[in-house]
Amino acid sequence: MPTVPVLPKTMTAAVIDAAGPSKALQIRSVPTPQPTHGHVIVAVEYASIGPWDVEQRAGTFGTIKPGTILGADGSGTVAAVGPGVDNVKVGDRVYSYSYGNANGGFNAEYVSVPSDRVVHLPPHLDMVVAGAMPCVALTALSGIETLKVGRDQRLLVFGASGGVGSFATWLAHEKGATVVGTARPDAQKYVRHLGAAHAFDPNSTEYEAEIRKIAPEGFDAALIATNGDTLTGILKHLKTSAQLAYPNGVEPVPVLKGHTSLAYDGEMSHPAFERLNAAIGSRAVPLKTEVFALKDIVAAHDRFERGHVVGKLVLHIKS
Ligand SMILES: NC(=O)c1ccc[n+]([C@@H]2O[C@H](COP(=O)([O-])OP(=O)(O)OC[C@H]3O[C@@H](n4cnc5c(N)ncnc54)[C@H](OP(=O)(O)O)[C@@H]3O)[C@@H](O)[C@H]2O)c1
Repeated sequence: MPTVPVLPKTMTAAVIDAAGPSKALQIRSVPTPQPTHGHVIVAVEYASIGPWDVEQRAGTFGTIKPGTILGADGSGTVAAVGPGVDNVKVGDRVYSYSYGNANGGFNAEYVSVPSDRVVHLPPHLDMVVAGAMPCVALTALSGIETLKVGRDQRLLVFGASGGVGSFATWLAHEKGATVVGTARPDAQKYVRHLGAAHAFDPNSTEYEAEIRKIAPEGFDAALIATNGDTLTGILKHLKTSAQLAYPNGVEPVPVLKGHTSLAYDGEMSHPAFERLNAAIGSRAVPLKTEVFALKDIVAAHDRFERGHVVGKLVLHIKS
C-alpha cells in the first residue's frame, strides 16, 4: 500500500477579506486544502506576483470574497494527489499556472490545483525562476504562437522588461527572430541580455530616429504587453501586412487602423506547459527576479505599485 502523506491541518497564507490597499493583506493560519479527485496539492516554494494580483487586491479587477488567497502561479513540490491523478507523484518538483482556484491561490504554503495545470520542472530550472514564470511564460508563448513568430522576422515587443515582455523577447530570440524591445534606459541591458538585438526607450523624443535606424523596413509583427502614450506612434512602423497581438488585460486595447489586432489569453494547460518545456530545453532562463518573503507581501505589493519592476516579483513562501 502506498503511504498516504499527512498534510498539516492548517497552513500559513496571505489572506484578504475585501478589496483595498496593500495592508488589507494579512498573514493568517487557515485550513490546508485536502486532495480531491483530479487535483494535486503543491507545497508552494515560490509564487509570482503579477499585475492581476495587485489589481484584484485593489478592487480594479475581478472580485474579492472574504478569505481570498491570491496567486495564479508558482513552483514547489507535490505534497499529495487526489484520486485520478497519474501525471505527477508526491515529491515531484513542479510548476503550475492555475488562475481562479476554488480553494485559494499560491500565496499560501499549500495550493490545490487541477492536475492538468501542473507539470514537472525542467531539471536544471531553479525554484525561484520556476515560481516567477508560469503565467507570463505561457502568456508570452501563446502570443508568439498567435503571431506565428519565426526565423528572420523582426518582432517589436512593447514592454519588454516586464514579465510577459521578458519571455516574449527570450522565446522569440530563441526561435530565430530579431527582437526589438522597448524599455526604460536602466532596463535596456537586461532586455538585450534576454536576446533582443536592440532596445529603445519608448518615452524618448528620439525614438522615431532610432526605429528608422534599427528597423528601416519596419516590423513584421508586434507583441504588446502594455499600452502607453507612444504606442500608436511606434506601431506606425509596422509593415503593411503586420499583425499585432496583446494578452487580454492590456488597456486600453491596442488597435491600429489597417492592421489585425489579436487579443489572446495565456494557455493554462498541460500541452502548453509541454511546449514551454520543449522551448526551454536545457537552456538557462535569464529571467530577473526580485524576491520577498510571504510575511512581507504588503511590501511586495507596494513595490509593484511603485512601478518599473524589471522582470518579476516573487514571493518566497517557506523562508
Ligand atoms: N490574458 C492573460 O492571459 C494574461 C496573462 C498575463 C498577463 N496579462 C496582462 O498582460 C499585461 C502585461 O503583464 P506583465 O505581467 O508583463 O506586466 P508587467 O510585468 O507589469 O510589465 C509591464 C511592462 O510594461 C512597461 N510599461 C508600463 N507602462 C508603460 C508605458 N506607459 N509605456 C511604455 N512601457 C510601459 C513596464 O516597464 P516600466 O514600468 O519600466 O515602464 C513593463 O516592462 C498586463 O496587462 C496583464 O494583466 C494577461
